[in-house]
Amino acid sequence: MGAPGFNRNRRLAAAATLLALAATAPAPQARSRPAQRAEHGVVVSVESLASEVGRDVLAAGGNAVDAAVAVAFALAVTYPQAGNLGGGGFLLYRTPGGEHHALDFREAAPAALRPELFLDEDGRPVPGRSLDTGLAVGVPGSVAGLWEAHRRWGSRPWAGLLAPAVRLAAEGFPISRREADDLSTSGKRILADPEARRIFTRDGVWPRAGERLVQPDLAATLRRIADRGPEGFYRGPVARAIVDAVNGAGGVMTRRDLARYRAVWREPVRGSYRGYTVVSFPPPSSGGVALLQMLKLLERHDLAASGAGSSLTLHRVAEVERRVYADRSRWLGDPDFWNVPVAGLLDPEYLAQRAATIRDDRATPSTEIAPGEPPRHESADTTHFSVADARGGAVALTTTLNAAYGVGIVAPGTGVLLNNEIDDFAVAPGVPNAYGLVGGEANSIAGAKRPLSSMTPAIVEAPGGGDRPFLVLGSPGGPRIITAVLQVVLNVIDHGMPLQEAVDAPRFHHQWLPDRLFHESRGLVEDVRRGLEARGHRVVERDGDVGNVNAIGLAPDGAWLGAADPRREGAVAGH
Ligand code: DON
Repeated sequence: MGAPGFNRNRRLAAAATLLALAATAPAPQARSRPAQRAEHGVVVSVESLASEVGRDVLAAGGNAVDAAVAVAFALAVTYPQAGNLGGGGFLLYRTPGGEHHALDFREAAPAALRPELFLDEDGRPVPGRSLDTGLAVGVPGSVAGLWEAHRRWGSRPWAGLLAPAVRLAAEGFPISRREADDLSTSGKRILADPEARRIFTRDGVWPRAGERLVQPDLAATLRRIADRGPEGFYRGPVARAIVDAVNGAGGVMTRRDLARYRAVWREPVRGSYRGYTVVSFPPPSSGGVALLQMLKLLERHDLAASGAGSSLTLHRVAEVERRVYADRSRWLGDPDFWNVPVAGLLDPEYLAQRAATIRDDRATPSTEIAPGEPPRHESADTTHFSVADARGGAVALTTTLNAAYGVGIVAPGTGVLLNNEIDDFAVAPGVPNAYGLVGGEANSIAGAKRPLSSMTPAIVEAPGGGDRPFLVLGSPGGPRIITAVLQVVLNVIDHGMPLQEAVDAPRFHHQWLPDRLFHESRGLVEDVRRGLEARGHRVVERDGDVGNVNAIGLAPDGAWLGAADPRREGAVAGH
């Protein structure tokens, strides 16, 4: 086994540089390359080694859940900004028979976490406490979630699915140019933690593309999990190291918090859109409810006629987004702590009322939009990959540490980077989090509660169903996850774009507050900007992307199509 950290390999570095230059994305307005075909099975993830790990599991006869488990563990090694053991996520599974199941392995607040811990003596939130300290860390859910998915639906031995991740961690792999860039631009928190710094830098110097990242401690942790299942993570030396690291940085996590963590099966949310059935993730994600609200509000408009990328289409979508994010701020939270009115938010009469205030000629300022009053008649750096198998089984899995590299703290001796998911709570009513999202009581901090998420793994079934799903997709991007997924669905269903073009097309985003219509830098021609400003929108170029959608679709002849998002170096691997 090698020493931890990086071993320079100049030849690989040079090759990676050339590849990176060759792979520079074409202007998005140009026609996209076609999506990649695969007859039997396909994986689309953000990182090529992980996609190949999943493809190999499928090619050896494993099902979509087997492959998803292997990909998720591989990403914990090869994509440390978001792949993880120390974070959480959501898995949406479509069985070969066409049933849908949602598994919540979102991080939970430690039992002793209280809102006051984030406030100063005057009751004001202390900047950074929910992002940069031990208080930022939620009880990790990934290991419990992957275990539970495998226990219920897996068909291949658990340890075998972890083996590729163990090997990648123990032997190392050459980091990509993208990873090298991400570390040096987004890895600031890593420098503050001696253990993370030891693993991800050489004495504080960021690695270059092509250097090998070797993670022997992480390999040992993965072996423990391979041998003992979740016990290897939630009890014993790994659990102790996590608790010590979190509390050493000012947190309040206990070994009991870890030992009690459970992944939870939840009822997916579903709705129809122009004859298609859209299935996505319920609370504690806001993503599925928001996506369905948006689609239902947009179904009233003929978007095919107003056209992809026109000012009228962008205006209509932005007006819908503004209203739905207002609802999110008031009504969405962990359903085990707060009665989320899911049916009310999707109620046709309620949505008709919300839609009635949308005009085609004028933007409604967000100051005039409040969260609605849905009927309340019921009791209750992220990454996304999509997998589909030969029998029509499919997994949409979004997982995260929240910020890139999470809180930047590695529990000593474990190789496990920890999350800063607690910032997804509203630390105080109306105080924006790192993504500018506001919330109130529904998403307030409480012990054992799960912070509200925007992660939106989604599966779309064609009108009349079929053996294989029509679309499998999802995205990272905080609040922009929901709008990124929405736009890919609209691009395919309303605008008739081929899958890759639907993923590549420029995207935009409105989240109610701030009252701005953000667009990607390459996204907007001048004429469209003027059309939006004339309606009263405040149009702002966003420094960065709107999401990163890794999607699977269906070719007319029934083969799978894999489309990785060119915004990152995503990779399709099929067979
Ligand atoms: O669960 C959420 O909504 C966020 N923690 C996701 C963070 C994210 O997507 C960051 N990636 N770009």
